[in-house]
Amino acid sequence: MSIRLSNGVVLPMEMHKVRIVQKTSLPPAAERLRAMEEAGYNTFLLRTRDVFLDMLTDSGTNAMSDNQLAAMMVSDDAYAGSESFYKLQAAVQDVFGLKYVIPAHQGRAAEHLLAKVFVKPGDVVPMNYHFTTTRAHFELAGGKVLEIFTDEALNTQSDCPFKGNIDLDKLHDVIHNYGPERVSFVRMEATTNLIGGQPFSLANLRAVKEIAADHGILVVVDASLISENAYFIQKREPGYADRSIQSIIREIMDLCDICYLSGRKSCSARGGFIATSRDDLFARIRPWLPVYEGFFTYGGMSTKEVEAIAVGVREMVDPDVAGASAEFVEYFVRRLVQCGIPAVTPAGGLACHVDARKFLPGLDSFQYPAGALSAAVYLASGIRTMERGTVSMDRDENGKELASDLELVRFAVPRRVYSMSHIEYAVDRIQWLYRNRGLIGGLKFVEEPPVLRFFLGRLEPLGDWGRRLAEAFRSDFGPDC
Ligand code: F0G
Repeated sequence: MSIRLSNGVVLPMEMHKVRIVQKTSLPPAAERLRAMEEAGYNTFLLRTRDVFLDMLTDSGTNAMSDNQLAAMMVSDDAYAGSESFYKLQAAVQDVFGLKYVIPAHQGRAAEHLLAKVFVKPGDVVPMNYHFTTTRAHFELAGGKVLEIFTDEALNTQSDCPFKGNIDLDKLHDVIHNYGPERVSFVRMEATTNLIGGQPFSLANLRAVKEIAADHGILVVVDASLISENAYFIQKREPGYADRSIQSIIREIMDLCDICYLSGRKSCSARGGFIATSRDDLFARIRPWLPVYEGFFTYGGMSTKEVEAIAVGVREMVDPDVAGASAEFVEYFVRRLVQCGIPAVTPAGGLACHVDARKFLPGLDSFQYPAGALSAAVYLASGIRTMERGTVSMDRDENGKELASDLELVRFAVPRRVYSMSHIEYAVDRIQWLYRNRGLIGGLKFVEEPPVLRFFLGRLEPLGDWGRRLAEAFRSDFGPDC
C-alpha cells in the first residue's frame, strides 16, 4: 500500500510487523576493498558476512510470512503421495485456475523440462525477452531464442507502461519466416527481468494468444514475477483499476497453454513448478519429472518448501504482498530520478535498475560498465547488486563476445526485507558515486567459465581504480565508514 502524507508526498507503507530479524553489519571501505578483490570484482563471489544490504536478487531472499513458516512445520515427507503436494495443487487450482501441477526444484528446472519436451534442434523460441537460464536451456536443446520486443523496451528513460510487450508484427514475421512447425512456443515473461522488471499488458497477451492460436502454436508464460505483472496491469492498464490481482492472474492464465515459475520470487519460497490445464501437454511433460527432478509429488523440492509455496501462491494475490516490492522500487526510482541519476523508468517489479551506460559513458560494452558500476557500488556502500549487462551474456558459438542490449545494475528489493532508511542510504551512496564517477574504470576477465559466466567468472579492474575509489570514499567519510 502507498500512503499520501499531508505534504502530498506518497510513501510506500509496510503492511506487516517485523517480529523476527537477522543481524547485518557494515564493513568499512578498507574491508570492502579486500572483499571485492577476493571476490574477483564479481558480486556473486562475495560472502554474506561482507555485505551490508543484499540487493543481489529477490530470488529466495524474501521475508516469509508467519503462515508460510507455520505450514513448513506440518509438511508431509512421504516420498510418494505427499499431502504437501496436494495442498500446492489445490492452491494452484484456486489461484491460477489450472488443473495440473508439475513441481520442480526451481525455475530453471522447469525450463529444462520444457526445453526437453518442446524445443527441437533448429527450432526458434520467440519471446518478449530472454532470461539467462532460459536462454541457456533452450539453446542447449538446439533452439534459438528470438527476442521480439517493441522499440520502447530498450529505452531506459521512458514513460511506456508496458515495455514487456511483444511486437506483434515481429511475431507475424517469425511465424512467416520460420513456419509455425519450427516455433517451439511463444514465451511471455511476466515483468521481464533483464530489461528492468517491465510488465506486459493483457491486451498484448490477448493479441499474442490469438496469433499463436491461429497457427497452432503454444503460449508459455514465465510467471516467476506474476503478481507484480498483475499489480502493474491493475495500476496501469485501462479498465483494470477495479479488478483484483487474483482475477487478473486468472485472466493471464486463461490466455496461456502452460505456465511455469520460479517460486523464489512472487511466491517467497524456494522451488518452482509447471502448470497447465491441458491433458495432452501434462502427459508429455510428466514422464520426464522423475528422471530429472524427483517423484511427481515433490519434484526435487523439500516438502517444507512445497508447503511454503502453497501458502505463497495464495498470499501473493493479496495487494499488500503483490505491491510490497513494486512500491518500494517505485520510491527508490523516484528518489534517484530526483537526484539526476539515470535509473530505468518507469519503475518495474523486483528491482531498481541503474543504466550503467549513461552513468559511465566513457566505457564500452567490453569494458563491462554494469560490472564495474556494480563493483563500485559495493566499494562505496557495502550494498551487493547484480550486473545485468555484457558480463551476463555468454559468448556465441564462435567464441565471440556479445554486447548486451542494456548495461544495467540491479538493486533488487526483496519483498518485505528492507526499510525506508536502507533505501535512503542506497540513494545517498549512489549520489556520491555519481559525483565521483570519473574515478570508475572498466574490468577485464581473468577467469571465464564457458557457460553462464557471470556466476563464477573472476575479473580485475583496468588500472587501479578500485583502490583509488575506496581511498576517495575514506577521505570523504572517514576510516570507519
Ligand atoms: N525466469 C525468470 C523470469 C527469472 O527471473 C528466473 C530467476 C528464472 C526464470 C529462473 O528461476 O532461479 O528459480 O531457477 N531469476 C533469479 C534472479 C535468479 O536473480 O533474477 P530459478
